Amino acid sequence: MEYIKWLADKYTVHIQKFDLQHQKLVEIINEVFNARINNVGQGIILNIIIQLNDYTKSHFMEEEALLKENQYPALETHKNEHAVFIAKVNGFIQEFHANALSLNDEMLEFLKNWLINHIMQTDKEYGAYLNERGIN
Ligand SMILES: [Fe+2]
Repeated sequence: MEYIKWLADKYTVHIQKFDLQHQKLVEIINEVFNARINNVGQGIILNIIIQLNDYTKSHFMEEEALLKENQYPALETHKNEHAVFIAKVNGFIQEFHANALSLNDEMLEFLKNWLINHIMQTDKEYGAYLNERGIN
């Protein structure tokens, strides 16, 4: 089942490789959702969340590197948003390890809302800036 449906025209940031990476992030969040509705063990859910964390970190690093290379003016604000997300996901992982948390709606909603809002607002802002510099 799709917890988040990828809407290519709506979610595009007009940078092809980042669209593909965002789509992959949506897929991983959908995997978390499916793991929950299929009632799989906590260990499997933890593995998917670790995968989400790893993939997100490398995606953020790529975005930040390209923005830095192009002297993007709002880079610091953008980086701060990324850091908040990583801290939150790391918190989930720690709590899972400590068996103090099981996957709940609030977590899933946080993942979905953060990602979609970040793409729609913060990421979309770099699209035009990079396009003007010949990056698509
Ligand atoms: Fe971003």
